[in-house]
Amino acid sequence: MNWNEVIENAKGKAVKCRFCPECNGIACKGQIPGLGGKGSGSSFIRNVEKLKEVRINLDVLAENRPIDTSSTLFSYPVSLPVFIAPIAGIKNNYGAELSESDYTEAVVKGAIDAGTLAFCGDGVNPNMFFEPVDIIQKYDGLGICTIKPWSQGGIDERINYIKDKKIFALASDVDAAGLPLLRNAPFPVENKSVEALAKLKKQAQVPFIVKGVMTVEGALKALEAGADAIVVSNHGGRVLDDCLATIEVLPNIKKTVGDKMTILVDGGFRSGKDVFKALALGADGVLIGRPIGLAAIGNHAEGVTFYLKKIQSELAETMIMTGCNKISDISEKCVTVLK
Ligand SMILES: Cc1cc2nc3c(=O)[nH]c(=O)nc-3n(C[C@H](O)[C@H](O)[C@H](O)COP(=O)(O)O)c2cc1C
Repeated sequence: MNWNEVIENAKGKAVKCRFCPECNGIACKGQIPGLGGKGSGSSFIRNVEKLKEVRINLDVLAENRPIDTSSTLFSYPVSLPVFIAPIAGIKNNYGAELSESDYTEAVVKGAIDAGTLAFCGDGVNPNMFFEPVDIIQKYDGLGICTIKPWSQGGIDERINYIKDKKIFALASDVDAAGLPLLRNAPFPVENKSVEALAKLKKQAQVPFIVKGVMTVEGALKALEAGADAIVVSNHGGRVLDDCLATIEVLPNIKKTVGDKMTILVDGGFRSGKDVFKALALGADGVLIGRPIGLAAIGNHAEGVTFYLKKIQSELAETMIMTGCNKISDISEKCVTVLK
């Protein structure tokens, strides 16, 4: 298998994707449902563009040790600090025939086979949350569920469902608070205060991750609520036009809360060298979204595993060229951010 074959397999099955040589949000701008960013698409586009302004400092003069890409998430060992971002609505957004549950199984299994973990999505129909929970049970709880910031009734019905079930962690994509479709749901999404987040963290009873933090103030609020991790994310540019890029806001967030909680980031990461840049600027791990959808549509779990291993080998190559033997060697000294 090679990546071109996976992409060829996905072509014709993901009719809403433009299959651009670079997945950068330009051709699909404004396409929601679809794969684009909201409005002018500028938040998605900027995520990708700003990553190019982070240059890598070549420095091979180091001890000649084996390269080790392994890391941990909440002390659980992973083969690389890369996770699968939650993606819901595979039919609506990719135009794919693949069912939501087949997609979920492909990402959960594909991630485990590559030695890491997948986040799963949520939607207006509670089954969009329940089905991933059930699939994760088949894999010994090795998956992360994501709950939208519903008003309390919607939270409670989902939390009740995970009681007595095994999941690795619970995330909440708090940045979905303004999505029009979800604002009209039976339990409409809403803004969450520190108190509301703290309540959700308490209800979760597993590590709790706040996804969709883009400011130092937001990170401090997530910390105050007791979150174990945040995902620095603008939802792939799908919730607000004209945002900063995630790689731009990451360093200050790291400086403020980095020694107190785990910091993940997503948005526009497409290669092992992009992952390296995030790690250098303070992330403990990176989530990848859109390309994983194509991998799953093309070759199911095998495609997902293949994609993650490709990212892992690109990360290892970058580590060789920067004299980093292990993930903890990667620091801000390894990159230069262009002004
Ligand atoms: C089609 C699509 C569906 C998504 N669904 C969800 C979701 O259900 N929950 C969530 O937290 N994020 C969702 N996201 C956002 C992703 O989890 C992630 O933040 C973003 O896609 C990362 O950027 P990337 O796709 O450029 O890698 C979705 C993104 C896309 C493109």
